Amino acid sequence: MKPLIEVRNLNVFYGEQQALMSVSLDFYHNKVHAIMGPSGCGKTTLLRCLNRMHELDPTVRVEGEIILSGVNIFSLSAMQVRRMTGMVFQRPNPFPNMSIYDNVIAGYKLNNIPLKRDEADQIVEESLRKAALWTEVKDKLHKRGTFLSGGQQQRLCIARALAMKPQVLLLDEPTSALDPKSTSHIEELITELKSTVSIVLVTHNIAQAGRVSDYTAFMYLGNLVEYGPTEKVFTVPEDKRTEEYLSGKFG
Ligand SMILES: Nc1ncnc2c1ncn2[C@@H]1O[C@H](COP(=O)(O)OP(=O)(O)OP(=O)(O)O)[C@@H](O)[C@H]1O
Ligand SMILES: [Mg+2]
Repeated sequence: MKPLIEVRNLNVFYGEQQALMSVSLDFYHNKVHAIMGPSGCGKTTLLRCLNRMHELDPTVRVEGEIILSGVNIFSLSAMQVRRMTGMVFQRPNPFPNMSIYDNVIAGYKLNNIPLKRDEADQIVEESLRKAALWTEVKDKLHKRGTFLSGGQQQRLCIARALAMKPQVLLLDEPTSALDPKSTSHIEELITELKSTVSIVLVTHNIAQAGRVSDYTAFMYLGNLVEYGPTEKVFTVPEDKRTEEYLSGKFG
């Protein structure tokens, strides 16, 4: 199986402090990849490399290679990379002054990508359907996104990311601010979405990684300790630290 993304010898420095130590791993088409590990181990740092978000901060240095669909992302423009990689954060963050409709197509507006009215209508409906939000909001598309519940807002943010038709969806603890019902809704959604997009899911929640992912990475102190099929990592981990983490001994 040819990987969608190949990460090779990735090092990240925040000033003098090294946050990722020569991390190499592959992400695949139509799979969910969970990144887990204790707070501060580098999960968000790794995710931000995949859409080159670190470049917004001049004090961060990134070394290594990331090949996406056969192309080194550092040879593309940042805008091209961000179109291929949708990102969703821990706290739902719809644009507060925009309607639900405008939130979904915000990526087009912010990047000055022209859309005809019927094209926009189609993208809005399709993205909201994929994010399992359409039936709940189809009669109030012109109300503000911030009127929605937390779980609905998070699905709106997923719709906003999907609207750009990314190849990979990057989710940084997308359910940690949500109640259990909204969480299971998002978990079901993640499982449905993998038929159209590759997913990298950062999560603190070991059970969630076990429920939704096909591959699991365990990180510790900036190192990738273990990576493999979720079933294998969970049942016969190779590294003692992985085993300890999974049994709740730290983190
Ligand atoms: N902007 C920054 N400037 C300086 N150091 C940073 C910055 N962001 C992260 N770090 C440091 O890099 C290391 C990795 O941080 P990162 O946010 O990637 O961890 P994480 O695994 O996502 O943690 P959490 O589970 O708490 O979100 C930590 O030691 C953190 O303090
Ligand atoms: Mg984090």
